[in-house]
Amino acid sequence: MTAVAVAGAGLTGASWAGLFAAAGLTVRLYDIDAQRLTPALAQARSAAGFLADHGLAAAVALDQGLPGLSAAADPAEAFSGVALVQECVPEDLAMKREVFSLADRLAPPDALIATSSSGLSISQIQTAARRPQRCLAAHPYNPPHLVPLVELAPGALTSVETLERARAFYTAVGKQPIVLRRDVPGYVANRLSAALWREAIELVRSGVATVEDVDRAVAFGPGLRWAAMGPHLIYDLGGGPGGIDAHLRHLARVKEHMLRDLATWTEFPPDVAAALAEGLAREKAGRDYDELVRERDELLAAYLKARRDLSS
Ligand SMILES: NC(=O)c1ccc[n+]([C@@H]2O[C@H](COP(=O)([O-])OP(=O)(O)OC[C@H]3O[C@@H](n4cnc5c(N)ncnc54)[C@H](O)[C@@H]3O)[C@@H](O)[C@H]2O)c1
Repeated sequence: MTAVAVAGAGLTGASWAGLFAAAGLTVRLYDIDAQRLTPALAQARSAAGFLADHGLAAAVALDQGLPGLSAAADPAEAFSGVALVQECVPEDLAMKREVFSLADRLAPPDALIATSSSGLSISQIQTAARRPQRCLAAHPYNPPHLVPLVELAPGALTSVETLERARAFYTAVGKQPIVLRRDVPGYVANRLSAALWREAIELVRSGVATVEDVDRAVAFGPGLRWAAMGPHLIYDLGGGPGGIDAHLRHLARVKEHMLRDLATWTEFPPDVAAALAEGLAREKAGRDYDELVRERDELLAAYLKARRDLSS
């Protein structure tokens, strides 16, 4: 049975571990702070159980994966014999490099070493390893056990074979990998999210709409369509049978008019949190963090299940 290690047992690491266990892999969770391991194991088990309860993981794989889910405070034990190290330590270049160097020394020479980093450069991280060609970025979307996307990005020294092996591995555990041709800040999905969020903030700051209405607009409008198909295919459909050509002939001018009016700032204005606070409180309507996470996860699971049922 394939063994994998997750380095850094925080929010992201525990969720990755749950996903890997639900796929039937042997999983070792490692953290420099041994006190993080017990709660992280519980979170990983709960994530794996959630997937099985919602029909998103095979009970048989889970039966195999759960007994193989363990914690290791010793990196030599955590990384020995694994096929992959999924690094999930805090977003700090020196810390990431330290873990890559350690994993490179302790994991088998052909193991993949992947960073979950949201914004650091894999090119700068991988030079800490003696075999940088087997290192890559595998950026998840929170929570990794539920959101299928993983963005695979090469550093300057990553081999083509590494990207292909990574694509096969993440596909096999149920992810939807995309492969970037080169490493750019924010990969694909965070760049798209950042562009949308800047405009969402500006619509509130400039008094066009409330926080709740902007969120409702995304969740029940473009976000719903984008969950079905991405923006290119959706706009192609928006042109009718004439496709994207027809769409652009019809609507390019009006979209250009909008584009000229969009926010362009590149530093968050200091009043953003304050501008959103009141609206967020209204939108939460007394629901606490745990309740909101549960609600988000139930909706995501229902959507994923519906999509799977439809395609089978
Ligand atoms: N939180 C998110 O929504 C999210 C989404 C996608 C990617 N990521 C990325 O995942 C990574 C981890 O983020 P997080 O939110 O899970 O952080 P976190 O703070 O919840 O967890 C980090 C864990 O790493 C441990 N750690 C610190 N130094 C270590 C070391 N040298 N060796 C082993 N363990 C060590 C800490 O004790 C902690 O348990 C970051 O790079 C982040 O950009 C986070």
